[in-house]
This record gives sequence, C-alpha cells and structure tokens, in this order.
Amino acid sequence: MAVREILKMGDPRLLRVAQPVTAFDSDELHRLITDMLDTMRAANGAGLAAPQIGVDLQLVIFGSNAHNPRYPDAAPVAQTVLLNPLITPLEDVDGAVAQEEGWEGCLSVPGLRAIVPRYGRIRYTGLDPYGDPIDRVADGFHARVVQHECDHLIGVLYPMRVRDFSRFGFTEVLFPGLDAEQDD
Ligand code: NI
Repeated sequence: MAVREILKMGDPRLLRVAQPVTAFDSDELHRLITDMLDTMRAANGAGLAAPQIGVDLQLVIFGSNAHNPRYPDAAPVAQTVLLNPLITPLEDVDGAVAQEEGWEGCLSVPGLRAIVPRYGRIRYTGLDPYGDPIDRVADGFHARVVQHECDHLIGVLYPMRVRDFSRFGFTEVLFPGLDAEQDD
C-alpha cells in the first residue's frame, strides 16, 4: 500500500494532455492502480486521475463500494478503473443534449467547491486494466464524476469549467455541516 502525494492546482503536470495506456495487465500498471486506490481512499475522494499523482497516462479511477462522506447526498457509483476513456454526450428524456449544474470539489483544489455545468447523460467507453472494453451509459453524479476525472486527462481542472463565480467558495463556508476532517 502506498498513498501518493496529490499534486495541487498550479503544478504544470496537471495541465498536460495525458498519453494513452499501451501496456495492459502488467505488474507496473497494477501497482499504479493500487497506489491510486489507496490514495483516493485515504483522501475520501470520489475519483482520482493518474495526472493528479504526476503520472502522464490516460487512467482514471472513481466510485466506491461504500458511502462517501465528502459527497453525502450522492448515489453510490461502482468502483471503476477506466483507461483511455472516450465520452459521448447523450440526449436526455426530452431529446436534448443538456447540461446540468452540480457542486464539485477536487483533491487537487483542496478546500473549495463550485457549481459546474456537466452533461446530464453520457456514454463512456474505454478499457479496463486487462485491456477489456468498458461501455456504459451514466447520468447524474456518476456522469459528473466521469466527466470531472476525464477532464484531468486533457489538463482541465473544474475551476476552468465554472461559469458563475458567485457559486465558487470554501467548502467550510458553503457546507458547514460537512465532516471537518475532509480536506476538500
Ligand atoms: Ni479532480
């Protein structure tokens, strides 16, 4: 087990476009994924992207098998390891490709939250650590987390997506009831 240092906004390594994973089911890849899971769990994160620990690969993890104290109102998302992802926005029930607003934080932007617009319904594809395909449709918090994590692979942090800066602030001020031990 190894909890790795999470890079913070301002570090140029968070602004790179990540490289695709080309070697699957290797000891090195499995070790990296274990470290990312350990790091995400230690920080009570909802997701983590490889660039956040300085690794220049298209690899994200998200979800958990338990309640997340940082996002107490969110429906649970199955723990997923996703490589080389591709996101396609989908039409919602009204037939529109719509964005919805929701609160986000980021382990690379500790202590802050903002309202960020994201597609409400997406299809995401990619590969698992063995090189087998993943192909899912997601909405709500699940869709939001996937879009947030995949943004890290193109050097985009959520503050770059904020449109209304009147709803961008410190977690402890916005959500005074949230567990104070959470850093994000
Ligand atoms: Ni993030």
